[in-house]
Amino acid sequence: MNKRGETIPMQPGILDPQAKKPDDSIMASRTQVITVTSGKGGVGKTNVVANTAIALAQTGKRVLVLDADLGLGNIDILLGLTPKYTLEHVLAKACRLEDIALTGPSGIVVLPASTGISQLTTLTETQQLILQEELERLASTMDVLLIDTGAGISSTVTYFAAAAQSIVIVVSPEPTSLTDAYALMKVLLRQYRERRFHVLVNMVKSPRDAARVYRKLELAVSRFLHISLDYLGAIPLDDYVPLAVTQQRAVIDLFPNAPASRAFRELSDAVAQLTPPALPKGTVQFLWQQLLRTH
Ligand SMILES: Nc1ncnc2c1ncn2[C@@H]1O[C@H](COP(=O)(O)OP(=O)(O)OP(=O)(O)O)[C@@H](O)[C@H]1O
Ligand SMILES: [Mg+2]
Repeated sequence: MNKRGETIPMQPGILDPQAKKPDDSIMASRTQVITVTSGKGGVGKTNVVANTAIALAQTGKRVLVLDADLGLGNIDILLGLTPKYTLEHVLAKACRLEDIALTGPSGIVVLPASTGISQLTTLTETQQLILQEELERLASTMDVLLIDTGAGISSTVTYFAAAAQSIVIVVSPEPTSLTDAYALMKVLLRQYRERRFHVLVNMVKSPRDAARVYRKLELAVSRFLHISLDYLGAIPLDDYVPLAVTQQRAVIDLFPNAPASRAFRELSDAVAQLTPPALPKGTVQFLWQQLLRTH
């Protein structure tokens, strides 16, 4: 049920563990795994994930969203969804992962962050196994897994970033967003040898604004980090976005013709084109192996 009191039915087949599907390991390698992150908080990651997920679903893709913002997970709130179960129930084998999954607009499937998930790196081996198997099974039936993270350089953020196939760094025109993005990329380079980042500039006043922001970041990165960036796109500063947020709806869902909604559709085309690097990095299994690796 969502906050508006409507029951959103699960799409038949998508989450049915009995549903006939091809071999999991093959499917898993075909699932696009994309982590959306940022150095600075509040630059629009959760909105980017929610709207891109819906836009991708509207083109027929099966989209799974994992809320990995362990501190302040809120994609369910943004979409007006009400979680009934948490990951803790899954780990206690009281329910399956699909039981905590919520169906959002256009049939996107959302795995909400829960109190349990903050224990992710300190799970017992049995719990690790349950979780990995459950996510493998669920994600293998999907085309895209989009991961929303918190901001900054915490180990949880860098885990999810390093384990995904593609890393999207969201920046805004604010100067601190660029310095913080730089710091995050530096950490990912040093810790995980990550050299490829897709930059999305959010809240721009004009295309020229977007180009200016991107060039600034690119200049600093190429000069001091010796990595190259890919420009993924830009989303305009649009009053319809916060307006939709206050109504617990994604802008693309509530105001499909708003400037930001149009930009999110373009962005989803670009996201669908992101080419996966060679295996095994980028498979869901690899993601979980990385994530659950204890230090
Ligand atoms: N393109 C945009 N135009 C106008 N406002 C926007 C835009 N994108 C995001 N916002 C606003 O910025 C605020 C922060 O957005 P959001 O919660 O998506 O950021 P976040 O990066 O996920 O934050 P956090 O780091 O706390 O998780 C929201 O109030 C949202 O309405
Ligand atoms: Mg967020």
